[in-house]
Amino acid sequence: MADNTPAPIPLRRSIWRNWISLTGTVIAIGSFFSFLLLFAFDLFAGEHSNPYVGILSYVVAPAFLFLGLGLLLFGAWLSRRQQKRDPDAPTPQLSIDLENPRDRKRLIWFALGTMTFLLFSAMGSFQTYHITETVEFCGKVCHEVMKPEFVAYQNGLHARVACVECHVGSGAGYYLQSKLNGAHQLWGVISGKYKKPIPAPVTNLRPAQDTCEKCHWPQRFSGNLERTYHHTLAGEDGKTFTVRLLLHVGGGDSQHGLVGGIHWHTSKEHRVEYYAEDDQRQNIPWIRVSNPDGTATVFKTPDFKAEPDAAKIRTMDCLDCHNRPAHRYKSPNEAVDQALYLGKIDAKLPAAKRTIVDLLTKAYANEAEAAAAIESGLRKQYGNSPAATQAITTVTTIYNENFFPFMKADWSKYPEHIGHKDWLGCFRCHDNQHEAVGKPGKKIAASDCNTCHTILAQGTGAELTKLAPEGQPFKHPDVLPDDLTCSDCHNGKNQSP
Ligand code: HEC
Ligand code: HEC
Ligand code: HEC
Ligand code: HEC
Ligand code: HEC
Ligand code: HEC
Repeated sequence: MADNTPAPIPLRRSIWRNWISLTGTVIAIGSFFSFLLLFAFDLFAGEHSNPYVGILSYVVAPAFLFLGLGLLLFGAWLSRRQQKRDPDAPTPQLSIDLENPRDRKRLIWFALGTMTFLLFSAMGSFQTYHITETVEFCGKVCHEVMKPEFVAYQNGLHARVACVECHVGSGAGYYLQSKLNGAHQLWGVISGKYKKPIPAPVTNLRPAQDTCEKCHWPQRFSGNLERTYHHTLAGEDGKTFTVRLLLHVGGGDSQHGLVGGIHWHTSKEHRVEYYAEDDQRQNIPWIRVSNPDGTATVFKTPDFKAEPDAAKIRTMDCLDCHNRPAHRYKSPNEAVDQALYLGKIDAKLPAAKRTIVDLLTKAYANEAEAAAAIESGLRKQYGNSPAATQAITTVTTIYNENFFPFMKADWSKYPEHIGHKDWLGCFRCHDNQHEAVGKPGKKIAASDCNTCHTILAQGTGAELTKLAPEGQPFKHPDVLPDDLTCSDCHNGKNQSP
């Protein structure tokens, strides 16, 4: 039969029939297929999905789709050019004659190849989907960029809570927003246009009731919590100074306990709103408390005469105190205190606290430079003793876990709102400055030292056994001037502490 049929004379040979265009078509179909699959996962996974699938389905898959279409057009353009240049020349046409064993073989291989490709792209999509669900992906895909957050997270309380639980949460609206964000951030990383350090607070972070409160029951009554803070002073002898506090955490729900104490702010009946002048929410001149009976009290600092910008008023939630639940960088002071207390640095090394804090407060260009400086600094001071070697290992680890020179991230860049020693924290509002509008003399309650906590014991040695249930005045290790607040000195800006 093949012999009888005249060879087909292509009148107008199709410019689409060439290997490049065909490959393009296969890639386009494959990626479209992957897109559909990813899209389906995305849809069905609902609240369990994560933002990075968005990057795959809406950025990577379409990119391949366009690559395929591009190849298709490119192949066509090439063959047209060839046809134009030399209309009579037999353009390498793609014609398949099933009778021809060579063509048949080719076609079989091509079909097999296509099928394998489609299969792999489907499997690939599925695999990638699972990989992106993991925490490692979030932390490692942008390697250097997110290293600080990732390392701190792994050393934090929430190391087993996936990034997406706090950063995305459930529900369609935020979900979409996070996808768009994901794509936007990916672009930032690719193009090198991101800020160092990454700014906090994350302004589009979801409200805590959709994230934190999915695991932490806001109605919980915590009552009093005892916490012990171990310190070592800067002197030669490494004297310790310990504070035992009873924190009046209380609760915010009358079904489960008396509404009051620190968690009073989480009560559903009272709403606390505030206006901050700066992006890091450190200067708060205006606060409004709305009560269940519909009344409201506004507190202002004396210098704040204006009305706050309504769009910038924020309702207080968990994050206004627990703002670093997953990414805490320790200050040199805190990290060294802890290592000394745990014996990871020998407390007998003379002036260990001051020497090491000094080394950790210097700026280094990178981890290697820091490690070298730590080693030479400690060897100079303490020679080749085993205690010196142990200290070098410990201090280098402290540096690597809390300081990130590439991203310029460390404790001093990220204010923490809980407490009031290193940052203003609670004292942003509880500073005895804010006064109720229309009620002269009425200040914010809970501003003296024994309302949020009572100091049960403090000092060193036998002093720590003298418990005072009613609380005792704080005996600061150094003379305390009246006009300064804790963070004025403890902010790390004036050398140690
Ligand atoms: C327990 C909740 C929680 C988890 C889990 C969590 N984060 Fe965060 N993250 C936050 C909060 C809250 C902030 C905002 C901090 C602030 O306002 O100071 C934040 C901030 C960030 C920032 C902005 C920069 C900064 O340091 O403030 C990045 C980047 C980030 N997180 C990445 C991650 C990555 C990557 C993971 C997983 C490896 C993760 N987060 C897991 C709660 C969480
Ligand atoms: C997916 C569940 C989950 C989410 C979401 C979550 N947490 Fe947690 N959180 C935990 C678990 C579990 C622990 C206890 C960890 C442990 O003890 O090992 C914890 C511990 C804590 C603690 C310490 C409690 C203590 O005993 O000292 C605080 C504070 C906290 N979370 C605040 C937050 C805040 C704020 C958010 C929102 C940004 C948040 N959590 C989001 C599960 C979660
Ligand atoms: C006004 C500040 C403030 C707010 C708002 C706040 N907390 Fe706390 N919370 C604290 C302090 C202070 C502690 C004591 C522990 C500490 O100092 O680390 C604490 C303790 C906790 C603990 C440990 C208590 C326990 O019983 O084990 C959890 C969990 C917690 N908070 C979760 C939340 C959640 C969830 C929200 C939001 C619904 C929230 N907090 C809102 C200040 C606050
Ligand atoms: C944005 C401002 C703001 C911040 C930040 C803030 N508070 Fe408050 N707090 C208030 C206001 C307002 C009241 C109610 C005062 C009143 O009615 O006189 C209050 C009340 C309290 C009360 C008394 C609750 C009761 O039993 O009636 C305690 C305790 C307290 N805060 C502790 C803290 C602690 C601890 C922190 C830091 C972790 C903190 N607050 C941070 C605004 C704030
Ligand atoms: C508005 C509530 C509030 C008031 C008022 C307050 N504190 Fe505190 N304080 C806290 C909280 C919360 C912490 C715990 C911080 C943490 O867990 O990191 C704390 C921690 C401390 C610590 C332990 C810090 C450490 O690292 O050893 C000392 C000491 C202390 N407060 C002293 C005082 C003194 C002195 C005053 C009065 C000038 C005072 N506090 C007033 C809320 C308050
Ligand atoms: C005038 C500056 C100044 C002020 C204000 C100040 N401190 Fe200190 N504080 C120091 C110095 C200096 C040391 C170190 C003493 C040493 O190491 O020998 C210190 C040590 C401490 C220590 C023990 C060691 C350490 O390094 O943590 C605690 C706890 C402490 N201060 C808490 C507070 C609290 C809480 C407040 C606010 C009520 C406060 N300080 C206000 C200067 C200050």
